[in-house]
Amino acid sequence: MSAYPSVRPRRLRNSPAMRRLVAQTRLHPAELILPLFVREGITEPKPIDSMPGVVQHTRDTLRKAAVEAAEAGLGGLMLFGVPAVQDAIGSEGTNPDGILQQAIRDVVSEVGDALVVMSDLCLDEYTDHGHCGVLAADGSVDNDATLARYAEMAVVQADAGVHLVGPSGMMDGQIGVIRRALDAAGHQETGILAYTAKYASAFYGPFREAVGSSLKGDRKSYQQDPANTRESLRELELDIAEGADLVMVKPAMAYLDILRQVADASPVPVVTYQVSGEYAMVEAAAAKGWIDRERMIMETLTSLRRAGAEQILTYWAVEVARQLH
Ligand code: PBG
Repeated sequence: MSAYPSVRPRRLRNSPAMRRLVAQTRLHPAELILPLFVREGITEPKPIDSMPGVVQHTRDTLRKAAVEAAEAGLGGLMLFGVPAVQDAIGSEGTNPDGILQQAIRDVVSEVGDALVVMSDLCLDEYTDHGHCGVLAADGSVDNDATLARYAEMAVVQADAGVHLVGPSGMMDGQIGVIRRALDAAGHQETGILAYTAKYASAFYGPFREAVGSSLKGDRKSYQQDPANTRESLRELELDIAEGADLVMVKPAMAYLDILRQVADASPVPVVTYQVSGEYAMVEAAAAKGWIDRERMIMETLTSLRRAGAEQILTYWAVEVARQLH
């Protein structure tokens, strides 16, 4: 009989029941948020090549997708509008009858009691140059002129009934200006999911096709440098001071260290966004038969929760929620 080893961690791993008992991290449908794209002027949903299984919706199929999401028990939806016309200042983003505002009204009336409806508050889907803001005469992104546009966008989205606006443009002062604009318009109950630590990332590649972005160049003058940690905590402090109700770290899997630090410091819920490139990598490798798709999806999501995310935006939200039931 061997007296060694006397300490055997494997005891807690040796049956499915034991592993289930001691698991420290569990996923629940209520903490999953599904991003959805709605495109103006199409009559059939349009597949996004670089995101197999994801489409640009018509208003009609968007409603159906929202109902499916509610039936699957998701916690929320994040809506992105793809307008028929883009211009220098992103006019459709503040048109009360623009595609996103129509979609918000549709979805809120359909499923607004069952889950939280959120909308992207950014100009890149609406501008013909593809930047998240308006441009100054020298071609740079004009921070303060952009804030005025965001304030207007926030009010039209809230007028349409959205529960949370999601400012994703990384302009300085965006949370404060949006909070003031919402309050001044009587929308004290509309909340802000702040894209707090958003990095200038190659992982957004497929999303550009998803929203028909015309961007040439990059967003490095406003989104964070992947080399940096400290500025995430600074952005967190500012967003909290300016009135963020929830904060986000984005992308997700390449930024688990940032997620952990933000989770340790944040007084409000911490969200992460498993972005288009993270989705595309898994789908592409799975299509080649190189990985076990379902295990990979669960492992990535579990890792995000373990690192400190409490809510996760993922294009797999409905599929995963159904598996969790
Ligand atoms: C900006 C926005 C982007 C994403 C969400 N909101 C693109 C960007 O900042 O370049 C990316 C989401 C994804 O890649 O899935 N409106």
